[in-house]
Amino acid sequence: MLHTIFLYIHILSAVISIGPLVSLIPITKKMETADEKVMCGYVQSFKTAITVVKHGGHVLVLSGAALIFVSGWTWTTSWVVLTILIMVLSIVFLASAFKPTLKTFGTPEYNKEEFIVKLRKATWKYIILLLIMLWLMVDKPMLW
Ligand code: HEM
Repeated sequence: MLHTIFLYIHILSAVISIGPLVSLIPITKKMETADEKVMCGYVQSFKTAITVVKHGGHVLVLSGAALIFVSGWTWTTSWVVLTILIMVLSIVFLASAFKPTLKTFGTPEYNKEEFIVKLRKATWKYIILLLIMLWLMVDKPMLW
């Protein structure tokens, strides 16, 4: 029962971590033709989505750790180790890719074209990292 609850929370947090990112791709497209006022709303939506993804990631890690304790898997299992490595990489990436770019909005550094390209690239990179981790979790490849 405990295992089912943790697994349910874990999968739900994976959905919450990936879902908002997918909705950000069409937003970056809409940003291209948005005026300053509308752009302000999109940037706010972007910030909110990144915050949701960040919190989803925290629950994902905590529920993942809980699953290790209640399942037969260990911290040295290859697909767990690889996921943790990618997770650390993506946390560093999430902090360094989105924040500095989003911060430039409304400052003299802001360049609309560059801003959109950077956000779109960062969103795709993060989606890809999450999809790789999702594959490792579902396929559970035993590499050693
Ligand atoms: C600190 C990182 C993580 C740890 C320690 C962890 C741990 C685990 C463990 C032990 C299971 C297997 C549960 C079982 O079969 O009894 C599991 C399943 C799962 N994890 Fe993670 N996880 C982590 C990160 C992630 C991430 C980043 C995602 C998605 C992007 C994810 C998605 C899933 C899914 C969908 C399952 C169910 C797969 C299945 O059982 O067929 N996990 N996780």
